[in-house]
Amino acid sequence: MSEIIRSLQRDLNDFGDELHLVGSERLGERHPGEHPDNFGAGAMAQPATPEAAAAVIRWCVENGVPVVPQGGRTGLVGGGVSRPGELIVSTAKLNRIEAIDPLARTATVGAGVTLQALQEAAAEFGLAPGIDLAARGSATIGGMIATNAGGILAFRNGVMRHQVLGIEAVLPEGSLFSDLTQVLKVSAGPDIKQLLIGSEGAYGFVTRAVLKLENVNAMRATALVGVPSAAAALALVAHVRARPALQLEGAELMWAGFFRDSARERGFDLDWLDGETPAVLLMEVSAASEEEARTALEDGLAECWEAQALTSGIVAASLDQARRFWALREESDFIYRLHPAAPSFDVSVPSGALDAYVADLGARLKAIDPGFDAYVYGHIADGNLHISVFGDGAAAAAMKAPIEDAVYGGVADCGGIFSAEHGVGLEKRRAYLTYGNPARRAAAQAIKAALDPHNLFNPGKVPFRAD
Ligand code: LAC
Ligand code: ZN
Repeated sequence: MSEIIRSLQRDLNDFGDELHLVGSERLGERHPGEHPDNFGAGAMAQPATPEAAAAVIRWCVENGVPVVPQGGRTGLVGGGVSRPGELIVSTAKLNRIEAIDPLARTATVGAGVTLQALQEAAAEFGLAPGIDLAARGSATIGGMIATNAGGILAFRNGVMRHQVLGIEAVLPEGSLFSDLTQVLKVSAGPDIKQLLIGSEGAYGFVTRAVLKLENVNAMRATALVGVPSAAAALALVAHVRARPALQLEGAELMWAGFFRDSARERGFDLDWLDGETPAVLLMEVSAASEEEARTALEDGLAECWEAQALTSGIVAASLDQARRFWALREESDFIYRLHPAAPSFDVSVPSGALDAYVADLGARLKAIDPGFDAYVYGHIADGNLHISVFGDGAAAAAMKAPIEDAVYGGVADCGGIFSAEHGVGLEKRRAYLTYGNPARRAAAQAIKAALDPHNLFNPGKVPFRAD
């Protein structure tokens, strides 16, 4: 057992069940999550109350032990990676859904509640968190706040920042910051809690949150549509969104390389698909009844068919088939089975620039190595693309810097952003330093220095103080 765990046991014994400590042996038996080094510290504290979290963090400050906050460990950029000598502070035991208020349409939750647990609890009131993402079963509310998560409903409800009303957090010097406001409008001086959203654990450890809830409608219809371009997909989406009786529930575009490999890996029949289709749109809508949703979706497709040169389409005949459509888009782990260590990116591109960006990306990659190619897919209605680069020439993983410049150069040129929803963590460090705005970086560092003068919170990660 590590010295840190032994000392914590001795010094914070009074907390009893409110504080669980996990040493390296028991951590070794657990799955580290998306990054193999998440458990590198070999020591974890799991406070079960905000007070215990504050006590652990005060102990860390007194003893000069760096703190690495962790939620569901689903992060894709290494933001939860820890090293020997650090203490992982996990939200796992802060997992209580404290209240759901169906009239105010709010939920008060512990930071360790998973998105799916909140979705299920809210569904009993016909409500939903208004934000949804593929990792819903493991991603926690605290982690989603720390990364300002986006996902598939951002085009409608915004990102995590727009769903958060209140936050309670332990700040780096160990005080418990509480702003668990239940109201939407706050014009009462600087809104400090906003700093914690997207700070990736650099400014504090979120313990509880109040979230807005939205209506949820299970009366849905889902289609896969072959489209000639992102512009055509967006025109179809706009057409459907203009119908007052319909609500858009998802618009995910998969360029052909991604779609075909995903379909092949899942044994999904492609007989219906035009062989030359450049991209496939997964679109889901809801309406007053399933039949209405389906009819309106089919009408929308028919109305756009010629004008948008749609090539082929299939509407799900059952909920089960709709789930299979979604799996083609969401179960993207086949990428790493087929191309281990493929460099992956998460960028936002303004909608008018999407087709040119993707075409240009292909050309930039081929200029590095004619064997390079990319899977491109993502949340088309808000311009968030996921990109994985692979190639049978030089190993893509060994050419990281030129590939990054190929991906990010185009993003910077068209007014997009190098990290849309996954954060910066360790993986996007170079991008943050190369493509981040210098004045914004300096401000982030100044705030870091003020809140965390000893650089104890998630050190080595964004905003990258001297380390
Ligand atoms: C998704 C994750 C990777 O959209 O953001 O599937
Ligand atoms: Zn995504």
